[in-house]
Amino acid sequence: MSNQYADRLVVVRDVDSLRRRVRDWRRDGLSVALVPTMGALHKGHMKLMDQAQKMADRVVATIFVNPKQFGPNEDFSSYPRREADDFELLSAAGVHLLFAPEATAMYPAGFATTVSVAGISDVLDGKHRAGHFDGVATVVSKLLLQALPDIAIFGEKDYQQLVLIRRFVEDLNIPVDIIGAPTVREHDGLAMSSRNAYLSAEERVKAPALYVAIAGAAKDIAAGGEIEATVEAARQKLITAGFDSVDYVEARHADTLAPLTNTSNHGRILAAARLGRTRLIDNVPVPIQQGA
Ligand code: PAJ
Repeated sequence: MSNQYADRLVVVRDVDSLRRRVRDWRRDGLSVALVPTMGALHKGHMKLMDQAQKMADRVVATIFVNPKQFGPNEDFSSYPRREADDFELLSAAGVHLLFAPEATAMYPAGFATTVSVAGISDVLDGKHRAGHFDGVATVVSKLLLQALPDIAIFGEKDYQQLVLIRRFVEDLNIPVDIIGAPTVREHDGLAMSSRNAYLSAEERVKAPALYVAIAGAAKDIAAGGEIEATVEAARQKLITAGFDSVDYVEARHADTLAPLTNTSNHGRILAAARLGRTRLIDNVPVPIQQGA
């Protein structure tokens, strides 16, 4: 598919070219937003691009399927790669620059550094995906330092990732504002994800039960329901709805991810569950808000 904007999007694959362009913009007084992705772009990603357009003069998207954040038995090799389609979407959205490095540009021979965030990396998804958050923290800190944007935008869909990024950006004094963006959902509540493409037709029908279960739990807890009993009931609902297994359903403090002890606290219900070979994650605020 061709489009009239295609010539506006520039693709760079090396750090020097990225740096040079961002530096020139900033020298001209233009503000820059960075939106990191692993590609296979959907409406959730594109919402982040829209938000970036509203908040900054120039938008840099990145596409890099980061090998360091996938475990040995995870879906790195089968992760969807659709760079031509992604390019069209980003062009039509008016994104100015796409940084799409090869793995050798990100991790050249001799690369030896890991960014590791204690505590946050060890719970929830971190417990079920060993090394995952070290891979995320390492690549995101590299992307931020490579581009040096004014702001960087991440989705609440990956809530633990957002909390982790806020933590190391503060700890390492990386001069960037981290912006969180609400989760974009299908009409039936399923959070948009590149991994939804793995679902069979039958699994796709069951998948929205994840959102229904955690949204129900958030409502019950906000109404004063006992936390442990409520999340346990949500776990049971997922099994009844046909999920093959549940990695976790938990109520946590929204800022620190410490266990939620008080229903009046600013909380978040987070869950991960499997349908066949697909692992789905989702989260909602407590109390639940429209469109969360
Ligand atoms: P990826 O899964 O491609 O997601 C890129 C960004 O899009 C993340 O900030 C993610 O939270 C956001 N996103 C995904 N689905 C969304 C939805 N339904 N609504 C709103 N935002 C959504 O997350 C990663 O890539 C990687 O871990 C990355 C940060 C790029 C590091 O490799």
